[in-house]
Amino acid sequence: MRTALLGVTGGIAAFKAAELASLLRKRGWETHTVLTRNATRFIAPLTFEGLTHHPAHVDGFAPGPSILHIDLARQADVVAIVPASADFLAKMSCGLADDLLSTVILATTAPVVVAPAMNVEMWRNPATQENVARLRGRGIDVVQPRSGELACGEIGEGKLARIETIYAHMEAAWGRTRQLSGRTIMVTAGGTREPIDPVRYIGNRSSGKMGHALALEAAQRGARVLLVTTAAAPAHPGIQEIQVETAAELATAVLDRLEGLDALIMAAAVADWRPAHPSSSKLKKSTGAPEMVLEPTVDVLAEAGRRRRPELLLVGFAAETDDLLVHARAKLEAKNADLIVANDAASAMEADDNAAVILDRNGVVADLPRQPKTALAAGLWDILASRLSRAPEGQAHDRRGA
Ligand code: CTP
Repeated sequence: MRTALLGVTGGIAAFKAAELASLLRKRGWETHTVLTRNATRFIAPLTFEGLTHHPAHVDGFAPGPSILHIDLARQADVVAIVPASADFLAKMSCGLADDLLSTVILATTAPVVVAPAMNVEMWRNPATQENVARLRGRGIDVVQPRSGELACGEIGEGKLARIETIYAHMEAAWGRTRQLSGRTIMVTAGGTREPIDPVRYIGNRSSGKMGHALALEAAQRGARVLLVTTAAAPAHPGIQEIQVETAAELATAVLDRLEGLDALIMAAAVADWRPAHPSSSKLKKSTGAPEMVLEPTVDVLAEAGRRRRPELLLVGFAAETDDLLVHARAKLEAKNADLIVANDAASAMEADDNAAVILDRNGVVADLPRQPKTALAAGLWDILASRLSRAPEGQAHDRRGA
């Protein structure tokens, strides 16, 4: 049985949430409803209790043995806010948690679908648009409102999307949460640090944001994710964090676990060289600039490409400043990977947004425009998951062209 958490906020369109509650029941969902105080001015909790056969909540502090907001957050397979007022979008964007519904939103790891409805000027207001962009950047699905005659008499965008459209977004979100279930995916993220002495290192500009977005998206689609990272990892019950610092630690973390993986996504910026003789004590300025001898590190992706079972989906990244596609294609061949995510090194590193071209042996698979890394991760997983889904769990995927 699928469980929906239906959040209703204050607006004229609140009555339409009842239609969604009814549709959810017909389609076999268990639905728990949470209304904000202002929502109850437009529609009664009792309406939802009658339609869903579950209590509809308003107050998070009602007496009882359980912690209501945590229970509701955990039970939900999908959360939908219908309608979402301008005020509630702003609260979500800031991460406020001053009532039951906003607290549940912060506490849930389920996908969230938000259907705004408001006056056209409130919708167009830059404050609202910035909030919507921030929410989308975090991977929240904001269903575009329709244009038409609004309750206030004005004509324009701000009308709640059709209930069937909102339901379709919920179905799609639920489908994605199952898409990678039973799969074990490893993602590497961040830049390695190669010690010069106990306080200095050779590093790079990688922030880990792309790898972390990929790990989170895979976990949200139901995978067991092993995230090998040099940075602070995102929290999700599906993510097991493996902290590393150097290329050698990363190599061990990856290669020791290669056997059990369905996919390895090498998003980490692994150092190509490291100081051959790091000093065990801090180098002193007074002894002059040190002569540093560098030695190559293990190329983890290439080594994984050598040891791989054919069924493993092996994905590398190419961060380039020149001749992106030429270098990316060469890396695909040289490292025996299935796919390469090629991006511009200068604009990708540390940024919140990124663009990427995806290549396989047959050429360009997709050209994903610049967008928040969370959205880019979703686009990438749409491609990767379709390759994995052609194969039985725990083993094969289609290596077309390999
Ligand atoms: N990579 C790796 N181990 C290394 C270096 C890189 O596994 N020691 C992986 C990266 O995680 C990435 C891919 O190889 O998925 C491409 O890395 P990149 O540094 O762009 O390629 P290099 O082979 O190092 O080539 P170059 O530095 O000449 O661009």
